[in-house]
Amino acid sequence: MQLFSTARASRRTARSVVLAATVMLSMAGPARADLSDRQMALVSANCLQCHARERTGAPLIAQPSDWKKRVAAGEEAMLRHVIEGLRGMPPSGYCGACDETDLRAMIRWMSEGGADK
Ligand code: HEC
Repeated sequence: MQLFSTARASRRTARSVVLAATVMLSMAGPARADLSDRQMALVSANCLQCHARERTGAPLIAQPSDWKKRVAAGEEAMLRHVIEGLRGMPPSGYCGACDETDLRAMIRWMSEGGADK
């Protein structure tokens, strides 16, 4: 990867590519948590800017250890935090078009690791 000036940048880029590939794969194949095409588009437009990017403080998709405690607290708690916001998590994740059904599906999809399971 000579295109990138530092090994650090290239590692970061490689990681983003992996995350992007994970998302692409889940768009192509049958999604485990069954996101509709519309929901996948909403996730891409609203959630991935934080949840597929390191150092935003957001639990990362495809990083199960980021989700363990949150999943243990239960979907209702996660839903409340998503709707109301929680520290760096903005209310509804900036998704004005997401209703509760969408958010529940997204929470399941994210916390189950996107496509790779
Ligand atoms: C601006 C960045 C940002 C955006 C956009 C964003 N999130 Fe988050 N999200 C966060 C951060 C940061 C946390 C961790 C909050 C904490 O625990 O301090 C988080 C936490 C969460 C959690 C875990 C909540 C819990 O109870 O622990 C879920 C689920 C979640 N986000 C879903 C979403 C969904 C779905 C979207 C899109 C509709 C979204 N997020 C958009 C930054 C973001």
